[in-house]
Amino acid sequence: MSGTLSAEEQELEPALRARISALSEEGWEIWRRFDEEVRQENWHPFVPADYDHVLQTLLRLRAPGLRFLELGSATGVITIMADMLGYEAYGIELDGKLVDVARELARRFDSGARFAAGSFLPAGYRYRSRTGDDRIGTIGHGASAYPELRHPLEDFDLVYGYPWHGEEPMMLDLMRAYGGRGARLLLHGGKEGIRIFRDGRREL
Ligand SMILES: C[S@@+](CC[C@H](N)C(=O)[O-])C[C@H]1O[C@@H](n2cnc3c(N)ncnc32)[C@H](O)[C@@H]1O
Repeated sequence: MSGTLSAEEQELEPALRARISALSEEGWEIWRRFDEEVRQENWHPFVPADYDHVLQTLLRLRAPGLRFLELGSATGVITIMADMLGYEAYGIELDGKLVDVARELARRFDSGARFAAGSFLPAGYRYRSRTGDDRIGTIGHGASAYPELRHPLEDFDLVYGYPWHGEEPMMLDLMRAYGGRGARLLLHGGKEGIRIFRDGRREL
């Protein structure tokens, strides 16, 4: 967490604040090792979000009974953070080794966050862009992970992704086609840091 606490962070119980802080530190440590041992050898689509930035948004949006999904959950830090904040939290990740890391991290932090290995693209989904360019960038292919989660995409109130440059339209299209009514899509990255969309319209 950053040095200066936001109003929402100040309202957190000190023990929870400390747990979230420890989780974030551990997340950065895991990333440092991953970058050294995996990314220096071969390109990999995993780069971590600014955890503190995402935390502020999760704090602002939290409300009882919300179901959260992370698209491409990598080491699981954000999904576990969402679980700690009271969301019913799930993550989907294509790289099975990263799913193992996320499950182990959840175990160490005594978190109920759930992870599935596979693709966040539903089995029948095909991206059709408005420009005719249907490439999906670094987003990989694999068996859809929703059956393992036992929830289709439309069951989630808050869906979070950190797309690579140019992949945002696909995530918006995915939510238009399969997202629940009134669900929010939270996109990290770009100049603004975080953008929030609801029913396809920009909210923030
Ligand atoms: C830019 S990283 C974001 C990591 C994490 N969500 C964060 O915000 O720190 C994107 C992640 O999406 C995963 N990914 C790519 N295509 C996927 C797919 N079709 N289904 C599930 N995960 C995917 C990558 O392996 C990578 O871990």
